[in-house]
Amino acid sequence: MDPRGKIALVTGAARRLGRSIATTLGRAGSHVVVHYSSSRREAEKTAAEIRELGVEVSLERADLGRPAEVETLFAAIADRFGRLDILVNSAASFERRSFAQITVAEWDSVLAVNLRAPFMCTQRAAALMAASKRSAGEPGLVVNMVDLSAVQTWPGYAHHGVSKAGLLHLTSVAARELAPDVRVNAIIPGPILPPPGIDVGSDEWRRHGKRVPLGRTGSPEQIGETVLFLTRNDYVTGETIFVDGGEHLVGTALRASGESREKP
Ligand SMILES: NC(=O)c1ccc[n+]([C@@H]2O[C@H](COP(=O)([O-])OP(=O)(O)OC[C@H]3O[C@@H](n4cnc5c(N)ncnc54)[C@H](OP(=O)(O)O)[C@@H]3O)[C@@H](O)[C@H]2O)c1
Repeated sequence: MDPRGKIALVTGAARRLGRSIATTLGRAGSHVVVHYSSSRREAEKTAAEIRELGVEVSLERADLGRPAEVETLFAAIADRFGRLDILVNSAASFERRSFAQITVAEWDSVLAVNLRAPFMCTQRAAALMAASKRSAGEPGLVVNMVDLSAVQTWPGYAHHGVSKAGLLHLTSVAARELAPDVRVNAIIPGPILPPPGIDVGSDEWRRHGKRVPLGRTGSPEQIGETVLFLTRNDYVTGETIFVDGGEHLVGTALRASGESREKP
């Protein structure tokens, strides 16, 4: 799909990876719906930066853990644009809690944001994508931002890992069922940006980068570029792209608490 003039919704686009994806799509000529939940100021800044690129921008707030707010988000997109071409499900929670301590409410909340919301967004996006007038052979595109916890076993992240494993399978089943009208793919980022509390320039983060086969951390721009590749290549669906410096090759041990496997 040629991204120019297309309508793209990026969830969680105020900051971090979502911001980079939204900006990359804007730079490629897409009109962008910048979704946010609590980061209003950052979202306004992201929206302003994308607007400067000469494309249309719409700023939409929604708590994706609430189905009614997902509906409102899509109603707003339908009102403003009447169509959608690209959806990037990037918003997610990232909660650490030992298996024994996860409450039912916490489990439900993580699954609601990380799995039910991408399902709802994909379903509603597919309906809007059908309303888009694209050339033949240009299906709509959904990109799900997954995580290595979907394919590895990280102690302390059971609910997160299960939600992301579900999202990975959602990618496959949706890719098959929504074809040929919509392509659905996943990206699994590795150490791109550290979780809150760890500075990107810190020794701790640098050490983490040294542990993956390519020996360094990645950048948000590399995620944006991968979304752009998936946008442009209309023959890829049901695919998962690891953008992780090879971390998935190393295995789960890296993320186990206390584990240190630095390269000499
Ligand atoms: N960073 C990495 O290196 C990395 C590695 C592996 C996988 N990933 C995946 O890539 C995606 C983006 O990563 P990230 O680090 O940029 O994510 P993040 O900073 O942890 O979260 C992205 C955004 O999700 C939004 N969000 C959280 N709960 C929400 C809710 N209930 N409703 C609506 N929005 C909600 C937040 O928006 P507001 O700030 O507006 O509240 C937040 O800014 C995520 O799916 C993540 O799992 C990232």
